[in-house]
Amino acid sequence: MKKKLTFLGIETSCDETAASVVQENSDGTAKVLSNIISSQIKEHKKFGGVVPEIAARAHIENIDFIIDQALKKSRKKINDLDGIAATAGPGLVVCLHVGYNIGKSIATFGKKSFFPINHLEGHALSPSIENNITFPYLLLLVSGGHSQYLIVNGLNNYKQIGTTIDDAVGEAFDKTAKILDLGYPGGPSVEKFAKFGDKDSYILPQPIINRAGCNLSLAGLKTDVLRKSKNIKSNQDKYNLAAAFQETINKILRKKTEIAMNIFRKNISIKSKKYFVIAGGVAANKTIRKSLQKISEKNNFKPVFPSKEFCGDNAAMIAWAGIKRFKKKLNRENETVKSRWPLDNDAPFLKGPGLKL
Ligand code: KG4
Ligand code: ZN
Repeated sequence: MKKKLTFLGIETSCDETAASVVQENSDGTAKVLSNIISSQIKEHKKFGGVVPEIAARAHIENIDFIIDQALKKSRKKINDLDGIAATAGPGLVVCLHVGYNIGKSIATFGKKSFFPINHLEGHALSPSIENNITFPYLLLLVSGGHSQYLIVNGLNNYKQIGTTIDDAVGEAFDKTAKILDLGYPGGPSVEKFAKFGDKDSYILPQPIINRAGCNLSLAGLKTDVLRKSKNIKSNQDKYNLAAAFQETINKILRKKTEIAMNIFRKNISIKSKKYFVIAGGVAANKTIRKSLQKISEKNNFKPVFPSKEFCGDNAAMIAWAGIKRFKKKLNRENETVKSRWPLDNDAPFLKGPGLKL
């Protein structure tokens, strides 16, 4: 019987210290033998956001214990592994160094291959942990630092067709939560309190909704939430504004997703089922899932969402990307840590003053 590849994954790009042992299944999906995540919510709560030096210190304090737990739970020893994968970027450099250095050291002393992994590729491949999806597929990657539409043609072959020109979707949720004082982390708090509000009670702007293809802009929406928050008189007003914000994000994503689907159709001619894959922390939001599910059905795409545990930052997706790269002999062992690392190097950089769309 063919030996099944088994990888240890390590993730420390932001405020989650995570380690996971993943084994490939014969049907193209993955068996996650352990998926340990230690979140630093308590450390960053009082600052209302991630403080890089505090995050790095917490990673240093926790990482050996987390890796040990991941190995113990999986009942694997370093000797049983085929490789070790660690996030090398994009992210906070002081944080990335912690996971990268320990991963590389374990690999060197254990005489294993070391795979530096792009965090965004981890998210992009995460839906295939549980689903047998075939390339090419349309991907919406929505996290705290990134919001992009990509055509995933294959491993290492990504074409960006849209991105945010200012704030990421998760960032807009986090800032709205901070403005409305709904608690940290922002995304889940906005979702929780929006349930008590009336989504039609405020009309909020949808910047660049009728232009710029499937590019997104959310800074103007956040500024309007800030402006309207000054006139809030009760908790009910607050919940209404949270609900209206979430509904506006839904409207924007519905419209821009249909545009992305049209671009995908124009560029890719496949007779088989077309997949629309949604990944990243924001993909955990239930109303966004429901709304994108409907848009997919209307446009004849099959939507694929990762389970909640694989939406936010985790190390299973990093180990999985390592396995995929090992199989295709696509390692880049000399890659070092970096804060910026786009999936599509040819994509235009759409940020900053003077930008015309
Ligand atoms: O992928 P992720 O864990 O980390 C990054 O790579 O950024 O995404 C974190 C982001 C945060 O901005 C968080 O507020 C958002 O995902 N998020 C959500 C929800 N859960 C997490 N946004 C909206 N609704 C949620 N339920
Ligand atoms: Zn992430």
